[in-house]
Amino acid sequence: VRAAVFASGTGSNFQAIIEARDLACEIVLLICDKQNAFVIEIAEKYQIPTFVFNAKEFASKQAYEAKIVDELRKKEVSWIFLAGYMRIVGSTLLQAFPGKIVNIHPSLLPDFPGKDAIGQAYQAGVNTTGVTVHYIDEGIDTGPIIAQELVVVFSEDTEETLKMKIQEVEHQLYPSVINQLLQTK
Ligand code: GRF
Repeated sequence: VRAAVFASGTGSNFQAIIEARDLACEIVLLICDKQNAFVIEIAEKYQIPTFVFNAKEFASKQAYEAKIVDELRKKEVSWIFLAGYMRIVGSTLLQAFPGKIVNIHPSLLPDFPGKDAIGQAYQAGVNTTGVTVHYIDEGIDTGPIIAQELVVVFSEDTEETLKMKIQEVEHQLYPSVINQLLQTK
């Protein structure tokens, strides 16, 4: 199975996926919308081809997504894993890869969708938060949930320690859910 990761930022989840032992797919492409994102350096280190685009150079979301679909087809990609891709996926990509686009989000959805979910949960003072892996639909963090894992917030946690605990869970959960998905399809 050939898969692509979409990421805009640091790429710690991208790195966890490509370093995972016995991953049930090959990551053949990184799609990134930020020219200087650190995730590009990780891809270079692991010699994974990248397609970096600037959305402003395209007339519309449909136009840049059509170009992304071309790149994915060229690499014979069948699954897409979003890992900190900071754009809403549109109909062009959704229709080209129905039921094959998955995202990871650092909260227990439907709680705290959107940006800075960890900060939102911390500010709200919840006792438990966590991580969600879900299919993508046209909403923001609204698609069907595949897996969730809890993270307990202790009174001594700061936003920083909570972030570290959530990331640790993400880095284990995402590769394992990917393997479950690919083994049952
Ligand atoms: C992760 O917390 C992920 O859940 C969210 O964006 C963050 C990406 O972090 N969608 P990184 O770039 O993988 O370190």
